[in-house]
Amino acid sequence: MSHEFVEKNVGLMAILILLVIVVGGLVEIVPLMYQAQAIEPAPGVKPYAPLQLAGRDIYIREGCYNCHSQMIRTLASETLRYGPYSVAGESVYDRPFQWGSKRTGPDLARVGGRYSDDWHRVHLSNPRNVVPESNMPGYPWLAKGTPDPKLIEHKMRVLKMLGHPYTDADFASVGPSLEGKTELDALIAYLQGLGVKSKEATP
Ligand code: HEC
Repeated sequence: MSHEFVEKNVGLMAILILLVIVVGGLVEIVPLMYQAQAIEPAPGVKPYAPLQLAGRDIYIREGCYNCHSQMIRTLASETLRYGPYSVAGESVYDRPFQWGSKRTGPDLARVGGRYSDDWHRVHLSNPRNVVPESNMPGYPWLAKGTPDPKLIEHKMRVLKMLGHPYTDADFASVGPSLEGKTELDALIAYLQGLGVKSKEATP
């Protein structure tokens, strides 16, 4: 009887459906916010160094995530190709994370150390110079741009407020570590760090 009553009252049914979704959603999401596995860094994972942080901004600005994910799934086809699958504790210092699911190009979660800096330098200015069949665009302007130390220091201070353990020594190191570096250097430093620190921490 009551079931029929709900079905005949669209407004009431809409409210009840909403309630179910809200409660169900909270039950799934809230525990994650307290699970150490999801909110604490995996062993070896540290906040980004200034040059890497600058590189990460460039990665986002240039939209690399439109073609590259940074999340290796728990499937044999993925772990055989890319390495150990990604765990949440690797992304605690990524704001916002770059997981994604769009893969026009390969996943980059563990690309650090796979190629030399020089390979990246050539590849990023014109991918076809090293991978003839590549359809990735070139980013030749990165070699001319320079990251702004003030912006990066400011950003690190904001991240500290959000719980990233940066110290005064880290803030003082921003100027020297960005000195004479181009956007290309920064992006390569970021790519070379991807997945490297956490390699030993993952299954
Ligand atoms: C239009 C899609 C597209 C965009 C945008 C793109 N890529 Fe790619 N990327 C590819 C494809 C396809 C490949 C595989 C062929 C190759 O190596 O060039 C690739 C390969 C790579 C590789 C080598 C990965 C490996 O394991 O061999 C790196 C590193 C890379 N891209 C970084 C970047 C960065 C950094 C950016 C942003 C500045 C970017 N890509 C933007 C499509 C893209």
